[in-house]
Amino acid sequence: MSWQQNVKFECYERFRSPNRNAGPVEPGFYSRAAYFLARTNNMRKPVIAGNWKMYKTIAEAVDFIEKIKPVAAEAGHCEVIVGPPFTALSASAAAAKGSKVSVAAQNCHWDKEGAHTGDISTGMLRDAGCTHVIIGHSERRHDCGETDEQVNKKVKAALAAGLAPIFCVGETLAERESSETEKVLERQFVGGLAGLTPGDFSRIMIAYEPVWAIGTGRTATPEMAADAHRFLRGLARRQFGEQEANGVRILYGGSVKPDNVGALMAQEEIDGALVGGASLKVDSFRALVNYPRG
Ligand code: PGA
Repeated sequence: MSWQQNVKFECYERFRSPNRNAGPVEPGFYSRAAYFLARTNNMRKPVIAGNWKMYKTIAEAVDFIEKIKPVAAEAGHCEVIVGPPFTALSASAAAAKGSKVSVAAQNCHWDKEGAHTGDISTGMLRDAGCTHVIIGHSERRHDCGETDEQVNKKVKAALAAGLAPIFCVGETLAERESSETEKVLERQFVGGLAGLTPGDFSRIMIAYEPVWAIGTGRTATPEMAADAHRFLRGLARRQFGEQEANGVRILYGGSVKPDNVGALMAQEEIDGALVGGASLKVDSFRALVNYPRG
């Protein structure tokens, strides 16, 4: 039984059947029911997002979007986002205009403008037609030494410009092996989202991307990912409140492929996927968007 069927069954047993007063509810029942309602009321509509990293020319990006537009149009069950490189953003947004495909940038600067050679502001991203921006991806944290404080400034700048941040967190292999996963996630979450109001928080998505699973072919098991998502949702509850925690979409990223996306998405805690390698080919992205649903 999928988790949705399970909760429906439990609700039926609990409230509709002759056993309705049959004793105390199972531990976790109410929070499972709240998750179910949040998902079925589309508060947490699943998201399939492609992070194209440093791949695709302008022509390749536009061609891809033209091919994926009808796929997104038919995919009422999820939101579809692509993340082209900076050079292809404007043309990608123009190609996606009026369709169900949204365009995300992969990074931004926190200042509105200024002497920052090579950087791009959130206003410029809006100008190029973006609606989303990936912030704090582990490749930027590691390649460019991005800190939680910088990530925080970027999240705030994105929100101020009207962009939806896709805020990335995740532990390295060494951190997982030394049982520091939760400590690291908490540091990244608290640092990266410091000073946000619950209203701000309701406009972001979180991507949990264990660094050891990115581009390595090693996926976290659905249960491992769900545990981390549950922990992050608990942090959201503590910092922003119950309603915001139940509403925030937490995407999993790290070697998501057409053949493992169904098992990941079957977890009630996993609201979507942020996909690198497998988002680069139309056929594979189409299969991700149309992931098996129970
Ligand atoms: P991957 O990348 O799917 O190639 O592992 C995911 C990401 O970095 O967002």
